[in-house]
Amino acid sequence: MATRIRPLAAGDRARVEAMTRATGLFRAAEIPVALEVFDAAVGVGRAADPDYESAGAEVDGSLAGWICWGPTPGTEGTFHLYWIVVDPAWQNRGVGGQLLEEMERRMAGRARLIAVETAGRPDYAPTRGFYAGRGYRIAAEVSDYYAPDDDLVMFVKRL
Ligand SMILES: CC(C)(COP(=O)(O)OP(=O)(O)OC[C@H]1O[C@@H](n2cnc3c(N)ncnc32)[C@H](O)[C@@H]1OP(=O)(O)O)[C@@H](O)C(=O)NCCC(=O)NCCS
Repeated sequence: MATRIRPLAAGDRARVEAMTRATGLFRAAEIPVALEVFDAAVGVGRAADPDYESAGAEVDGSLAGWICWGPTPGTEGTFHLYWIVVDPAWQNRGVGGQLLEEMERRMAGRARLIAVETAGRPDYAPTRGFYAGRGYRIAAEVSDYYAPDDDLVMFVKRL
């Protein structure tokens, strides 16, 4: 399996939307939010916003994952990981880990703290395990944040 990290382009939008939906994790209202972040990072229909950075992972020539991050406004050296998705067909093969490494490599020297907000629902257990296995620690939890019985879990990693 040959994985290549590469920049995202406007032509990736449909694949990004399809794989984000295919995870089955996000509620319908979250898909336009993911695409908004993609559009800002890539510059779809506008100039690219320098506060949103992104990368894609290609496996055997097709896009298998994407990631978007940026400096958290109003902070000194805190960055947010806004979105990471690996196509379900390619999960558990190290693609997400490579995307996370790419993000951390590109933040090096600028970021002090990385924050990522995820969910406490049972179906997010593999996602929480993914972060926990890569040096991210739970810093805050807010019950019923996204919806009743759908908690916010914030992970942070200090660089
Ligand atoms: C979370 C997510 C991005 C992780 O991506 P991924 O490609 O599955 O991640 P990886 O393969 O790098 O790591 C996952 C597991 O695979 C294992 N793995 C890593 N490389 C591997 C390899 N070469 N072969 C087999 N397994 C491997 C890791 O040990 C890891 O297991 P662990 O976390 O239990 O230790 C992906 O599962 C996803 O898109 N989930 C749905 C969307 C989501 O939750 N996004 C985040 C919202 S906050």
